[in-house]
Amino acid sequence: MEGIAPEIAEKVRQLGEKFKNSGQDLGSYLDGLLYDKYLTYWDYIHLDTLLSLQNPKTHFPDEEIFIGYHQITEIYFKLIIHEQKQIVEAEELSVSFFIEKLNRIIRYFRILANSFDVMIRGMEREQFLKFRMALLPASGFQSAQFRMIEIFSTPLENLVHTDIRENFRNHKSIEELFENVYWKRGATDLETGEKTLTLKQFEKKYTNRFLRSANRLKQNTIYDKFQQLSVEDKDNNTLREALRTLDTAVNVNWLLVHIGAAQKYLIAKNKAAAPATGGTNWKQFLPPSFQRITFFPELWSEEELKEWGKHWVEEMITQ
Ligand code: HEM
Repeated sequence: MEGIAPEIAEKVRQLGEKFKNSGQDLGSYLDGLLYDKYLTYWDYIHLDTLLSLQNPKTHFPDEEIFIGYHQITEIYFKLIIHEQKQIVEAEELSVSFFIEKLNRIIRYFRILANSFDVMIRGMEREQFLKFRMALLPASGFQSAQFRMIEIFSTPLENLVHTDIRENFRNHKSIEELFENVYWKRGATDLETGEKTLTLKQFEKKYTNRFLRSANRLKQNTIYDKFQQLSVEDKDNNTLREALRTLDTAVNVNWLLVHIGAAQKYLIAKNKAAAPATGGTNWKQFLPPSFQRITFFPELWSEEELKEWGKHWVEEMITQ
């Protein structure tokens, strides 16, 4: 090793050790290093692939914004699920780790809510109303990651439609609970029992995956993880506040900004609401005060649950 700096020689020795321990030959790996190209930014983040994924169906320029923003949201959803997995998979869940992960998820949802203006103000209404017709019967309703965020957060019984939720407390199978989640009911004609095409397609593609995940997460959702903590840990105010903030960030604030887009585009002055691409009765389906979904019900008072998201509906009605 003559002429080689001692710290480099030491690194080579450590590398030799590392490769020997796994039965590998250091010389071959050094050859690989010699021939390897330098990494570039564009290869590392797969920029060309990423930028090839925005493919409008119409010639309206604003459709690209619509696609791009949905994709941005799905990437954030992926990061959110990444944090949720770490909470539910932690072998020993410390309060500080729990809070740290929740804060990251809250941060992502805040970014999403704060950027929703890209949808509300960032597209021409006339263009939107036209290009959306080329997207039927697709709808953000079919975002499987949004549904996974719900499934990770809370037992399915808290996602059952509010009108029948109390009948489903305890002892119901995952399959039965899943059949009655709020979003399936929202996309079903209750008189005929007919499901929208949007829902039928969504079910065909994802039911098995959702059921597998819900079964795997049985008694292991984020809410379960909280409930399994020691009395002292459960009393931690910062943790309780983080869970409450997350609950409102998803089930009130994000829903509200999202409805703002439906309001802007689908309601014309003095006219009835236009049908949604996913075919729900969206004015009834979307508002938090109608859905009444809370991931962590124990953390809210009866009064707070009763008033869930209500202030918004009152504001809208009096406008
Ligand atoms: C101009 C923009 C948008 C409008 C007008 C709009 C409209 C709607 C409507 C009317 C629904 C009800 C289901 C239906 O019948 O189609 C819905 C559901 C939904 N949309 Fe959007 N949306 C917009 C943007 C987005 C974006 C950017 C996302 C991000 C992924 C998204 C995700 C969702 C989700 C997750 C649902 C289901 C909500 C729930 O179950 O509570 N939407 N949307």
